[in-house]
Amino acid sequence: MKDNTAEISEINALLGDNTRKAYVRSFGCQLNVSDGEKIKGLLKKMGYGFTEDEHEADLIILNTCAVRESAEDRVFGIVGSMKKLKELKPSLIMGIAGCMTAQGHIAEKIRRSYPQVDFVLGTSAISALPRLLLEALRGVRFSADISEYDDFSEVAEQVRDSSFKASVPIMFGCNNFCTYCIVPYVRGRERSRRPEDIIAEVRQLVNEGYKEIMLLGQNVNSYGNDLGGEMSFPQLLRELDKIEGDFWIRFMSSHPKDASKELIDAIFECKKVAKHLHLPVQSGSSAVLERMNRRYTVEKYLGIVDEIRSRDPDFSLTTDLIVGFPDETDEEFRATLDLVKKVKYDNIYSFIYSKRSGTKAADLPDGISDEEKGRRMRELLEVQREVSTEHYKRFIGRTMRVLAEGASKKKEGWLTGKSSEFIIVEFEGDSSLIGQFVDVEITDAMNWAVSGHIKKGQI
Ligand code: SAM
Ligand code: SF4
Ligand code: F3S
Repeated sequence: MKDNTAEISEINALLGDNTRKAYVRSFGCQLNVSDGEKIKGLLKKMGYGFTEDEHEADLIILNTCAVRESAEDRVFGIVGSMKKLKELKPSLIMGIAGCMTAQGHIAEKIRRSYPQVDFVLGTSAISALPRLLLEALRGVRFSADISEYDDFSEVAEQVRDSSFKASVPIMFGCNNFCTYCIVPYVRGRERSRRPEDIIAEVRQLVNEGYKEIMLLGQNVNSYGNDLGGEMSFPQLLRELDKIEGDFWIRFMSSHPKDASKELIDAIFECKKVAKHLHLPVQSGSSAVLERMNRRYTVEKYLGIVDEIRSRDPDFSLTTDLIVGFPDETDEEFRATLDLVKKVKYDNIYSFIYSKRSGTKAADLPDGISDEEKGRRMRELLEVQREVSTEHYKRFIGRTMRVLAEGASKKKEGWLTGKSSEFIIVEFEGDSSLIGQFVDVEITDAMNWAVSGHIKKGQI
């Protein structure tokens, strides 16, 4: 990690009055959002406050995602529109961080075509932020640091977006090289955090009153592979489960190729681990899975599902799916629809395949038109709507424990939250309950949520 204390002191001296505001916006996965919270932690040390309105910001940092082309286009659109902001306020400083910066051609495009950008901060160089910011404050036109020296992420203080839900990265990077995916190229190889650091962080969060701890990694099931057998992911779950307090443990993502019996045992035996598993399948065709280099078959995947459902038929599963992988045949796509009906997911996150330059799949011939990909996507979503409408009915008449998260957008005076099963629950309630667990008796089921009333006598 770079020692940045001198630059932080210089910025504090330079800014003096402490009235500067930063707008930090993170795109992409929760690991990136967690990096955004670390960027905010550093900015706080440098005397910055925060704003949700880019118009009143003195510093704008876009923490970007490269997983699909649409995510990159979105960021370029926003950067383009921010040119105006800089014209209105020439002292405004703009930085681009996150996964897009790790692709040489993108960093070069930003430097050449977007003069409103003052600096580029690589995913493994977050601790260089004070130096880049100092250079920008001194009028340096453009600086960049995309080096790979940081162990900063392991020790950084964070400004967390929520006071009751916290993300805790347990590992960084990915070794899997699924043929469609850019992540291993922009995030590097797997690195596990020390178990004692993770346990201490979770204990502190629980002591501070956090109710939901989300453990993060691109494949949490390979946690510890680089720690010489000291601790596996199921063992880590068991250690965290011993921490005293009233809280839930969640985790994502869990690669099916490494989803072991030990993991399933730990999920069912640990009282604080939520009753939900996000198990990304990507496709219902073993031939497509092979072309994707996922290293499991549909049969092996269904074996894991059977093992889980034999212990609890109502256990909640969610997944990620890619539609229109190069040369996916109609039959292969139909296999995905069949799998969705068979597994009965409570939710799916589905994406149209996006070609990422530098990945193996980018070289595969792709004969499927955009119209056909769009049509398949709509059909998949329709099938999932039918599945969840039916499947959510199993909760009617039951009492669900819910973490109240905020005001409902659908009904005045109602709250929204999530159950242990990761199901959205809507219920009438006072905003003083936000951040607390409540028991809700379920009376209705929609295809996106269930709703009900707080159990009488509870509050
Ligand atoms: N590591 C996680 C795993 O293997 O399940 C997934 C992480 S990735 C950030 C989230 C999801 O984005 C993937 O599960 C996949 O469905 C989707 N994704 C990744 N690359 C994609 C691409 N090139 N086009 C479309 N979707 C993609
Ligand atoms: Fe991407 Fe595959 Fe790694 Fe997930 S496991 S981040 S999909 S390469
Ligand atoms: Fe996107 Fe990077 Fe996450 S590419 S999905 S922000 S690891």
